[in-house]
Amino acid sequence: MAEDNADDWWRNAVVYEVYPRSFNDANGDGEGDFRGIIDKLDYLHDLGVDALWLTPFYPSPLADGGYDVADYCGVDPRFGTLQQFANLVAGAHERGIRVIIDIVPNHTSDKHPWFTKALHSAPGSKERNRYIFHVGRGEHGEQPPTNWLSNFGGSAWEPCGDGWYYLHSFAKEQPDLNWDNPQVRQDFLDILRFWCERGVDGFRIDVSHGLVKDLKEPLRDRPDPTLMSPQAADGSDPVWDRDGVHEVYRQWRELLDRYSPVKYAVGESWTPFTPRVYQYARQDELGSIFDFSLQKAAWDRDDYRKIIERTSECATAAGSAPVWVLGNHDVPRLASRIGLPKGTDVEHWVTSNGTDPGIDPAQAERRARADALLMLGLPGTAFIYQGDELGLPEDLDLQPADLQDPIWERSGHRFKGRDGCRVPLPWNSDSVSFGFSQSGHPWLPQPAWYARYAVSNQERLPGSMLNLYRAAIAARRRWIRPGDEAEWLADGEYAEYGLGWRVSSGLEVLVNFSSDHAIRLPENATVMLNSRPEITDCANNQVPPETAVWYFRGTLASRSKENR
Ligand code: GLC
Repeated sequence: MAEDNADDWWRNAVVYEVYPRSFNDANGDGEGDFRGIIDKLDYLHDLGVDALWLTPFYPSPLADGGYDVADYCGVDPRFGTLQQFANLVAGAHERGIRVIIDIVPNHTSDKHPWFTKALHSAPGSKERNRYIFHVGRGEHGEQPPTNWLSNFGGSAWEPCGDGWYYLHSFAKEQPDLNWDNPQVRQDFLDILRFWCERGVDGFRIDVSHGLVKDLKEPLRDRPDPTLMSPQAADGSDPVWDRDGVHEVYRQWRELLDRYSPVKYAVGESWTPFTPRVYQYARQDELGSIFDFSLQKAAWDRDDYRKIIERTSECATAAGSAPVWVLGNHDVPRLASRIGLPKGTDVEHWVTSNGTDPGIDPAQAERRARADALLMLGLPGTAFIYQGDELGLPEDLDLQPADLQDPIWERSGHRFKGRDGCRVPLPWNSDSVSFGFSQSGHPWLPQPAWYARYAVSNQERLPGSMLNLYRAAIAARRRWIRPGDEAEWLADGEYAEYGLGWRVSSGLEVLVNFSSDHAIRLPENATVMLNSRPEITDCANNQVPPETAVWYFRGTLASRSKENR
């Protein structure tokens, strides 16, 4: 790996999220595994990414896709062994790719020995004190202790049967840990150290704004219990984004900074994206956080502009870099979602009653292509969710019997949940399970229309989404530098439909959000990348609707000379 810039590599990196269960199955059991990932490291290298983020691969009953961890220092046999993990890290490092893993500190699995012991111990015991147990309300404890709700639906309190309850902010198989307990803090420092010593380059912190709860008696109800994020971004919520969480990450940072190069960390915080949440991105804390605003936004020029401005300002003020994300394993896929009409609830439109959300697939694909050039054209860290580089749409065809996400059950079968973005990847249009698994039985069924998106097809087509991503990542490496800031182009140059910015190399990015108006490029523009495969150059210097271009003023040759 390049040693220059070793501590700051992430500030301009492209990170690829691998959801191991759905990436590539080498042992033929229908679920992806470490050997499968190792077999595709060259694919990731050719794509040009700087790092992989592996979502949880720890031993787990999979009540929530592995975010219910039963052993933080192990590997679930379905994915492989610790030795194979070591091989994966070594193989990635040989190719200059760093490895980031997921840490889940808010809750464990209910099958974690800590929890099984706690359940079988007396109220008030030290075993129970690792978690959040409380007596219920009412004469016999027949009511949950507070109105707090699980993010997956229903009460966040599960009765133990004796008038006591335990807290689970997600599924009931995911009991929340008690971060007021110094033992819990120590355990996680040990877990981080364990993986640092196995060569990982950084961590993605699950539900990073959770952890500390206000457990002062009497426990308080939340004003609106349905929201996972705090209503007021001021630390007053009893469950989310409490001031005390910062102390935890300051301790973590001390540990992570002891390594050379220092270990990276990025927090998953579903809070309002105000300067307050960026406190987690301070350099003596996690160092960076995801900003999910673009992922939640409809295709709208003014909204995008506000988000890009705010994200960049907040990240800079925290001494961090913006983290851009358009898709992940928790939300419907970009290539469908971006076609939704403005105002649709981005996370909850995949309902069980099959209502047509009003997506025009061709339009959604155009926008997804433009979005790829938009995100990769922004300075900062860009996260790509596996399969988004293929333009995979959301799989809306999954049947109730196929669904595995706890959201399906806990929402009383209203929302199908997140399985539609977790369907195993299509590698080869002509092979069984599209090359994902020799078993022919992937853990989630792949729809027949996946063939069109298979890597084997896209590699042959110069204008495919995959080739667009490859070209953009390669160009980004050359033309966007660490520490770059996007400088908006003057309004007159892109009129009301577009967004345009320039970075220090002189590269300009122009995105036309309009669905019916073209935008003029500057007279002397030399277009380097264009999101529309059917348009080989921008005829008459026009950027067509729902298209993004990367260009220079003047000739590319003169730029190359300057940049040498
Ligand atoms: C995060 C994960 C999600 C999981 C939840 C609970 O939001 O990304 O997949 O269900 O945390 O761990």
